[in-house]
Amino acid sequence: MPLFQFFLGSHRSISWAELRAIGWGKRDEDKNALKIENLFDPRYNDLLLSKDTLLIWTHFDGKKADERFSKQAGSFKVARVHKMVKRKIQPEDIQDILLDRLLPETSNKIVLNFYGDIEPIYASSFRKEIKRLLKEKRYNIKILGDMKKINYNTATTTKVLRQKGHELNITYVKQYNLSVISLTEWVQDYRLWETLDFERPERDMRIGMLPSKLARIMLNLAKIDKNSGFWDPFVGLGTIIMQGQLLEAYSYGSDIDQEVLQRAERNIAWLLKRGLVSELRYRLFRFDARQDPRKHKMLRSIIRHGRFDAIVTEGYLGEPQVKPFANKKHVKKAWISVASIYKEFLKNQLPALNIGARVVLCVPMYRYKADGGYRWFVPKLPYNANRYREIKYNTGKLYWYHKDTIIGRKIVILERIK
Ligand SMILES: C[S@@+](CC[C@H](N)C(=O)[O-])C[C@H]1O[C@@H](n2cnc3c(N)ncnc32)[C@H](O)[C@@H]1O
Repeated sequence: MPLFQFFLGSHRSISWAELRAIGWGKRDEDKNALKIENLFDPRYNDLLLSKDTLLIWTHFDGKKADERFSKQAGSFKVARVHKMVKRKIQPEDIQDILLDRLLPETSNKIVLNFYGDIEPIYASSFRKEIKRLLKEKRYNIKILGDMKKINYNTATTTKVLRQKGHELNITYVKQYNLSVISLTEWVQDYRLWETLDFERPERDMRIGMLPSKLARIMLNLAKIDKNSGFWDPFVGLGTIIMQGQLLEAYSYGSDIDQEVLQRAERNIAWLLKRGLVSELRYRLFRFDARQDPRKHKMLRSIIRHGRFDAIVTEGYLGEPQVKPFANKKHVKKAWISVASIYKEFLKNQLPALNIGARVVLCVPMYRYKADGGYRWFVPKLPYNANRYREIKYNTGKLYWYHKDTIIGRKIVILERIK
């Protein structure tokens, strides 16, 4: 049964929740496999190994795995675990992998990355020792490279793997006195994600641009797959629908603003023009998300013929802000001005959802000045607990923001229970 190491992106808790929602964790009864099995969460068969890497037992093999890894967006690379040792890693621990496995089939480059509790000085002397060893064995192999670097970015990994080189990741975790050695098998196509965010025809800071990766993560949190049907009732420029198209899901989008809908249409059509999808399956229409869906012709027909598998949306975040809010009172006012939209929307769209269907949405959270610094105000989403239950993956807070963000996004996952 293979064990994979996932390298989590900038928003660790969200990336981890995405993997738990997809549910790749499987385990057989082979108790001899490892001595650290009891550290794995029995429900998901995963373990947060170090600050930003996760181990998952899975049941699928290399070739198919590639396709599956591309479905998720929150982790930037995945490596297969080849060895674990119960001590701080020593150069001789990787000799067998290097000499027996990698060298006979490599071109001429090997990347050595270090993660977890490894100091740069240790990484540097480790690399030196490996270089010495290779020289001694008369191998003309290049070990990248800069001795002070502890690990390399995705661009380097991509390049080396493309040149038929290899990447070894060495993670040492002090807490468990455990070293994990893994070989990178898949790396995220970072150019694709840049293209989706920056080359699409319609972009607009005022409407707020949901990052494409977050849109994909939200669809995964909603368990959307090929052929499922979902609705984004605050569609804006269509970022979530675009991701729905890449997943080959039936995607419905609506907005209160007719002009925005035309712009979303252009973005979605661009996917086809750019050759990123081979066909489109979507519908866009004008609709106020607070209204009763049974009063809308198309929604009425959808409700009659099977309803949606999920609603995935970035709700209205309010007026854009350039400066942090002056105090908590201002922040509360900003929330009150949009809270009723969420309340009405969650109440009225219930009939459009199947029982068990999920609502995955971004709710605004606000940064305000306090105690000479800043604090976050994270509002509670107003939903009826008799109708929805909140899904928790226990991976930490699902907040998405950067250093200078004023209005951040909190990801909430609800499930219709009645
Ligand atoms: C934050 S934007 C969504 C941006 C979108 N996720 C994207 O990436 O382009 C919110 C959208 O909600 C729309 N909106 C605001 N109130 C609405 C309502 N009551 N019903 C439907 N749409 C509404 C706005 O027109 C705006 O396009």
